[in-house]
Amino acid sequence: MKVLALNSSPRGEGQSKTELLLSHLVQGMQAAGAHVDVVHLRQQKIKNCIGCFTCWTKTPGVCVHKDDMSATLLPKFLAADIVVCATPLYHFTVNATLKAFIERTLPILQPFLMEYQGRTVHPLRHPHPGMVMLSVAGFHEPSVFDQLSSWARFIFAKKLLAELYRPGAEALTTAYYAPKAQSILAAAHQAGRELVQNRQVSAETLALFGQKIEEDPIAWRTMGNLMWKSCIAEGLTVKEFAERGRPPRPDSLESFMMLMSMGFNPQKAGDTRASIQFDFSGEVEGACHFKIADGTIQAFEGAAAQPSLVVRSPFGVWMDILTGKSDGQQLFLSKAYTVEGDLALLMRFDQIFGR
Ligand SMILES: Cc1cc2nc3c(=O)[nH]c(=O)nc-3n(C[C@H](O)[C@H](O)[C@H](O)COP(=O)(O)O)c2cc1C
Repeated sequence: MKVLALNSSPRGEGQSKTELLLSHLVQGMQAAGAHVDVVHLRQQKIKNCIGCFTCWTKTPGVCVHKDDMSATLLPKFLAADIVVCATPLYHFTVNATLKAFIERTLPILQPFLMEYQGRTVHPLRHPHPGMVMLSVAGFHEPSVFDQLSSWARFIFAKKLLAELYRPGAEALTTAYYAPKAQSILAAAHQAGRELVQNRQVSAETLALFGQKIEEDPIAWRTMGNLMWKSCIAEGLTVKEFAERGRPPRPDSLESFMMLMSMGFNPQKAGDTRASIQFDFSGEVEGACHFKIADGTIQAFEGAAAQPSLVVRSPFGVWMDILTGKSDGQQLFLSKAYTVEGDLALLMRFDQIFGR
């Protein structure tokens, strides 16, 4: 089986979630014996269709443009048994790069108008390969793909073999979501195998691929907003922020409590029983505390009844430590913040809250 796998993300390897998922799908296809040609459309020259219809009249089946699409990509498309269209979701549909590719497949149609199942269609000039639509989105709701799916089903009709949609895709490369990401990537691999073996993807694999990634939409949005605010405040691109590998900077007591709770590592906490209180001053004032027991954490606003440890710090100072901007030990020695109670607990913060 010959497969043409098109990746239309403009982002490079390491950042592109389209490419990440496509690579696992491709590995699954190869494991099932397919010959897969992966084409990164960002590296190809594909001019826009100019609507001259020359490919329908003067030179039937041949486009006026002399570019990569005419020279290599359209022949590859026609020779493939399956074409995978992998695209980031842009404005709730395929991105312009993939759309340009699809528009340039016009030569494979004939101009004539005919009726098929109650609607007007153009007859094919060449047999059409089976199509797979794979897309990734930033938003976490599965419904973000409704428009794309409706379009893909309409345009590819019975040639559409499978739709693989991954909402909340940016989370796939964050440490916090690593276990779910593993299962999603394994599902992409399995989908590749199934496509080669059965020309379809089972409901079970589709469910694993599209499984819910976020645990709490409010925390999801809060963390997303903190990430954007951190990038803006520090003048970082999203790529630079991700490469730094540090958490986003909380800007309120609520977002601090949320981030600490998400950072809690039950394995590293082990049988720790403790109540940890923070008293903040400066840009954000107030107290909150965390109760840790039996591998769980609970966050509360206000002071604890009997804290094992109290950290008193200007909010900005502690956030600098939390986001790795400043060294906690050095700031402790310079008395930028103070602690009272179980110091050994403070020493284990990196582990207990290191998830
Ligand atoms: C121009 C643009 C438009 C986008 N539109 C949407 C959108 O409509 N819905 C959505 O959930 N995410 C949207 N996103 C986010 C991307 O789908 C998301 O970041 C995705 O992971 C990018 O895929 P990539 O990493 O393979 O490039 C958009 C991103 C860009 C740059």
